[in-house]
Amino acid sequence: MDPVRPELDAALAAALRPGGVRSVFQPIVELDTGAVVAYEALARGPEGPLQRPDLLFAAAREAGVLAELDAACRVAAFSGAVGHGLPAPLALFVNVEPEVLDTAPLDELLAIAGSAPGGLRVVLEITERALAARPAELLRTVARVRELGWGVALDDVGAEAMSLAFMPILRPDVVKLDLRLVQERPGPAIAQIMNAVNAYAQATGAAVLAEGIENDAHLAMARALGATLGQGWLFGRPSPEPACERPLGSLPAPVAPPGSGTEPGSPFACLPAGTALRRAPKALLIELSKQLEREALRLGETCVVTATFQEARHFTPSTTQRYRDLVERTGFVAALGEGLPTEPLPGLRGTDLAGDDPVRGEWDVVVLAPHFAVALLARDLGTTGPDLQREFEYALTYDRDVAVRAAGSLLGRVAPRAGRTLPAAPTRSAVRPGSPAPAGLDLLGDAGLVRRALEATPSGVCLVDVRLPDQPLVYVNPAFERLAGVSRGELLGRNCRFLQGPDTDPGALARIRAAIAAGEECREVLVNLRGPERTPWYNELHLAPVTDAAGAVVQYIGVQVDVTEQVLAQRALEQERDRARGYLARIEELSVTDPLTGLATRRHVQEQTETALWNARGAGDAVALIVVAVDGLAAIEDRYGPAAAEELLTATGQRLRGRLRRGDLVARWARDSFVVVLPGLAADSAVREAARIRAALAEAAGGPVALDGTPVVAGVSTGAGCWPADADDVAGLLSVAERAAGRLPVARR
Ligand code: FNR
Repeated sequence: MDPVRPELDAALAAALRPGGVRSVFQPIVELDTGAVVAYEALARGPEGPLQRPDLLFAAAREAGVLAELDAACRVAAFSGAVGHGLPAPLALFVNVEPEVLDTAPLDELLAIAGSAPGGLRVVLEITERALAARPAELLRTVARVRELGWGVALDDVGAEAMSLAFMPILRPDVVKLDLRLVQERPGPAIAQIMNAVNAYAQATGAAVLAEGIENDAHLAMARALGATLGQGWLFGRPSPEPACERPLGSLPAPVAPPGSGTEPGSPFACLPAGTALRRAPKALLIELSKQLEREALRLGETCVVTATFQEARHFTPSTTQRYRDLVERTGFVAALGEGLPTEPLPGLRGTDLAGDDPVRGEWDVVVLAPHFAVALLARDLGTTGPDLQREFEYALTYDRDVAVRAAGSLLGRVAPRAGRTLPAAPTRSAVRPGSPAPAGLDLLGDAGLVRRALEATPSGVCLVDVRLPDQPLVYVNPAFERLAGVSRGELLGRNCRFLQGPDTDPGALARIRAAIAAGEECREVLVNLRGPERTPWYNELHLAPVTDAAGAVVQYIGVQVDVTEQVLAQRALEQERDRARGYLARIEELSVTDPLTGLATRRHVQEQTETALWNARGAGDAVALIVVAVDGLAAIEDRYGPAAAEELLTATGQRLRGRLRRGDLVARWARDSFVVVLPGLAADSAVREAARIRAALAEAAGGPVALDGTPVVAGVSTGAGCWPADADDVAGLLSVAERAAGRLPVARR
């Protein structure tokens, strides 16, 4: 058993006792005036191993008591604020965990808030992690919060592009910018976020709050980004009491009137009275829907797409294909229809509509992005006949308000994400200001040290849940985001194969598949593609299974290293080596080749003859050596010139070569002579055979050669020697052959 477990259990139990958790309060300040307008309540556990809220929440989540802890934290926040007499008109920002959104008991809080003199203005902070995981619960909670007259803040905006898409549906009163926006160097992603946030804030009057302001540079950046409120160490650290020296101000008025936020019964019902409706057969609606899908693809990751299909059978294979693209390229996609599963394809949020749900009779496609909104809202007229001729009445509207309400109506039906652990809460009190914790950290147990290590490592680290359909990523560290060139929000929930391109080795992929199927480790180097530019890089991938307590493989951990430089250097080295080998082979060849005739050199033939004799000794056969000398070369040179003499020698060499067998050797021996070696002759006929070939060579070499347009016949002298008949080594054979050719033996080496 884990030795620290009992200690952690005791600490968790202590936290859950009344008064076990306490709140600290951090001021939220109006940037223009410096006045404090609100305090955010941040939880702290009892002294001990779970004092830090990230550890405390991770332990509660693991023990299945997250809702209890979350409620206890809010009670602590409210009691603390009321107890310390948070003066009106200051507001209190409190957090809610996404998992417990719909079960969060608000009545107790209302009672505490009501006890505050002058009332307590409350703003509930909702993290963007709730958006994708539980949109319906989130919308319901927001509606309840508004009914109470409380405000809503959308937290960590910008950490994921998708939160931008949801902003108009949630209508938060305060948009809290992720602290990276003020702390990091501006880039295109920040511009995209600010474009969307400013559009929303201008249209609704919502306040923009920048977190993580620690110094004047951060403050200047916050203002530049359009923030009017700020929070961070520059204005005050979290402290036990909601009190500071600053003047008091108040939050801007709420964006939505109290009680708003509930949508009518169906998207079609969102159309204002008097909207002109048209009639169209299904065939036209198909094309209109596809057009809206194309718009959504163009808008990309800041776009939410919601669509209805009446029944699951209308979600055909070609629809599946198109929706796969939408899931890949947009922020959030939901499909609703009777009989549709909660995940019709990886990443697509499916919802099974009840038979009596009015949406069951509608054909709705809503595409919503920060600067674009369109809704196709249609109702089945119940006509009979061929399927493509079925008639609908419909409106196609670009009215943003209608599209927002229609999307809200559909999202209010979307089932919570199936079987997926919600990523851990960002370590909201412990680390802020500072970097947010990576999503999925609860999967890693102790957050602190492990998280910092994972954030620091230059290797990409990811976790894949192999129990979920299509093995999606459930955790990526910052290095993985950099390697992939894609942000965490777009990575989580996808299979890693989207990193591959047509050049990714199919053999390596088959080995990976087989290793995962067998629950084994593997290591491969793959070509992957980075970012929207799809820049190729070499990914050295190590995969290892992660088992649960019972030993079953539940996840895989992947460690990815960019080895592009090494692979390219290695390739260059290999190319150099091949080239060097080529040069060496050529040098070697030249060293044994006579440059004029292209025949073997004297040294080479000598060595080869020795080898032939050695082999013949073993095989019991014979070797003959023939000398062919060109007579009168000097006279020819005098008469026709040196070039002609060389031409004659070259022609002679070629003729000799043409008369020989493949294994026979011919070499330029002296300036005007050649040596031919015939290995592997039958011992009993070797002398005769040598004589025959000598005669044939003499005839060939003695034929006329055209020099300077004139046929010239040079005389040749030939002589042969046989081993073992005439001599017992190479020198002896040469001597015999040269004498027979009428030549003085040349100097021997
Ligand atoms: C992968 N896979 C993977 N593939 C890739 O091209 N780049 C990567 O970085 C990774 N990383 C990675 C991490 C982990 C933990 C797992 C389990 C897998 C491989 C990919 O997801 C998939 O398994 C292979 O493409 C083979 O399966 P398919 O595509 O044939 O289904």
